[in-house]
Amino acid sequence: MSRKLKDVLRGVLTPTELQCLVQSYDVVGDIAIIIIPPELIEKEHFIAAAILSLHKNIKVVAKRDGIYGGEFRTLPLRIIGGEQRKETVHTEDGVRLMLNPETVYFSVRSGTERKRIASLVQAKEEVLVLFSGIGPYPLIIGRANPSCRVVGIEKNPEAHRYALKNLGSNRRITNVRLYQGDVDSVLPALDRKFDRIVMPLPTSAEVFLSVALAALRRQGWLHFYDLQQEGRFEDTVAKIEAACRRDVLQLLSAEIAVCGHCGPRTYRICVDAQIGRISDPPHLKEGQENFKDNQKDNIPLDPQ
Ligand SMILES: C[S@@+](CC[C@H](N)C(=O)[O-])C[C@H]1O[C@@H](n2cnc3c(N)ncnc32)[C@H](O)[C@@H]1O
Repeated sequence: MSRKLKDVLRGVLTPTELQCLVQSYDVVGDIAIIIIPPELIEKEHFIAAAILSLHKNIKVVAKRDGIYGGEFRTLPLRIIGGEQRKETVHTEDGVRLMLNPETVYFSVRSGTERKRIASLVQAKEEVLVLFSGIGPYPLIIGRANPSCRVVGIEKNPEAHRYALKNLGSNRRITNVRLYQGDVDSVLPALDRKFDRIVMPLPTSAEVFLSVALAALRRQGWLHFYDLQQEGRFEDTVAKIEAACRRDVLQLLSAEIAVCGHCGPRTYRICVDAQIGRISDPPHLKEGQENFKDNQKDNIPLDPQ
């Protein structure tokens, strides 16, 4: 929270209420999303008015009306100030993303992480983003790496609808294809291998490890997200190791990136893992076998 918000609210909120004010809020496009603690519910309209008066670019103030939940990881929202709408356009790294933050998952806080992944991608790679939502990972990776081909798979039909819209409105990005459906069925049907697979579903990506590993080229990279407690990050590496063992593969290297804080001593982490066959020596020079069929484009499904 900016100090100014507290200043505007001084005199409107009591000193005790000011202490309850939540320290920060997210801005998605022109919508501010805030947490109102129970003690401040009676004063929420004043808080919304203060935010609107401080930021001319914010047109809607919504409060979290629950927690992220369900298969589609959506967040109930209630408008408490400004215009009566929940659809907006957010810009991240030059990519325009239209969305309704209540009906689809999107976190502005993952912007730095998306940029980090995009920076790891090498020329001409084939990249798969599982759980692609409204398309931020595929579009940011695709924009930063025009020689690559990027595929996204998302189950929430509403998120996929926005992802297609977003692909259409970022006209210069022509190397992204998006599929709607369950990763478990869509990915095997693609019958295609990838150099890099991104798995941004920290709550349950483990369930999809086997289907993802089957689509990863030898010496390929897996970016596996997890929610993990401080001091237990190696447990996430162990999950990948166990999946590799089951599928007669080998974890060649694993590095952990901490990319978010999501509760007391709990973090959103990403394991950047390189995976080979049991016989592969660690750190075999990339760019040999794993790129050999980069030229083929055998997508059997209609990406729409
Ligand atoms: C944490 S969100 C990440 C969305 C997006 N990658 C982003 O960063 O904004 C996880 C996404 O996975 C989708 N999802 C959940 N289960 C799925 C499945 N079995 N197949 C495909 N997508 C799934 C959800 O609908 C949700 O959009």
